[in-house]
Amino acid sequence: MPIIGLAPMDGVTDAPFRYIVDLVGKPDIIYTEFVSVKGLILGKPAIQRMLLRHKTKTKMIAQFFGVEPEYFYQAAKVAKDKGFDGIDINMGCPDKSVFHRGAGAGLILQPKLAREIILSVKKAVGNSLTVSVKTRTGYKEHQTKEWIGNLLEAEPDFICLHARTFKQRYSGVADWDQIGIAVDLAKKTKTKIFGNGDIKSRSEALDKIKKYNLGGVLIGRAALGNPWIFQGHVPTTKERFEVIIEHCKKFMEFFPTAHLSIMRKHLGWYAKDFPHAAEIRNELMQVNNIEDVEKIISRVC
Ligand SMILES: Cc1cc2nc3c(=O)[nH]c(=O)nc-3n(C[C@H](O)[C@H](O)[C@H](O)COP(=O)(O)O)c2cc1C
Repeated sequence: MPIIGLAPMDGVTDAPFRYIVDLVGKPDIIYTEFVSVKGLILGKPAIQRMLLRHKTKTKMIAQFFGVEPEYFYQAAKVAKDKGFDGIDINMGCPDKSVFHRGAGAGLILQPKLAREIILSVKKAVGNSLTVSVKTRTGYKEHQTKEWIGNLLEAEPDFICLHARTFKQRYSGVADWDQIGIAVDLAKKTKTKIFGNGDIKSRSEALDKIKKYNLGGVLIGRAALGNPWIFQGHVPTTKERFEVIIEHCKKFMEFFPTAHLSIMRKHLGWYAKDFPHAAEIRNELMQVNNIEDVEKIISRVC
């Protein structure tokens, strides 16, 4: 069965959002935010909370970035012990701070190291967890054949291809024909290809899976404020508000010392498609605690 999953998003797919997506969206897989292998292994406390693993029905994939195969090995063991179902290696992040260290999309320029990292993670987890890569089609130009061909040599379980180059970042449109090229390359291997980029609905995801013969599709931005997307469900305003409150509660439960203002961006994404949504959205941008949120939305429903 092809997979439809929540893409990793830094600052978004944290434990409370993962809880909500598992609860109402029930996709096939959910990714964490990307986690620095070096930060994790050297014991940065803030990083531990990025890997909070609560009990879920949905398979959870821990995504890591970095450059040292040895740290990837150790980080993969940590994620395995925490009960994650798969390890994903970020080879697509275009952020300067990550790229300049040679990590994320920087690995596109270091094909041998990229293979070593995959092999190191595979050695750490054996066949017990899936090992995958999430990447882009190339550095400045699409170089799908060489780059994906290189990754296939290390035999990851799947490769998720965001159909943009490093240089494009998020501009332009995703070129899904590049994903088709990757599928052709992987035909004679055991590696499955997942597609990613600009998917707006479950039906579009299913169409792409069929058209390109994919192992799966990941949805990112279209899931912001819309965990229902994985079911193809359009929520009522009541359902929307129930999820807002549940999300805030889980945020406080998972991160008891954090300030609820961190949740404001999610609240803004949820507050749409009902009367006076813009006004409510503005008010939600100022909340400091869950009582503020309850007060604002009680006026609507
Ligand atoms: C706010 C934000 C944070 C992201 N963080 C990550 C990340 O941590 N790891 C990663 O592999 N991709 C990251 N991405 C890229 C997405 O996973 C996805 O590849 C991209 O948004 C294209 O898919 P979409 O059009 O469905 O959003 C991020 C994207 C956004 C918008």
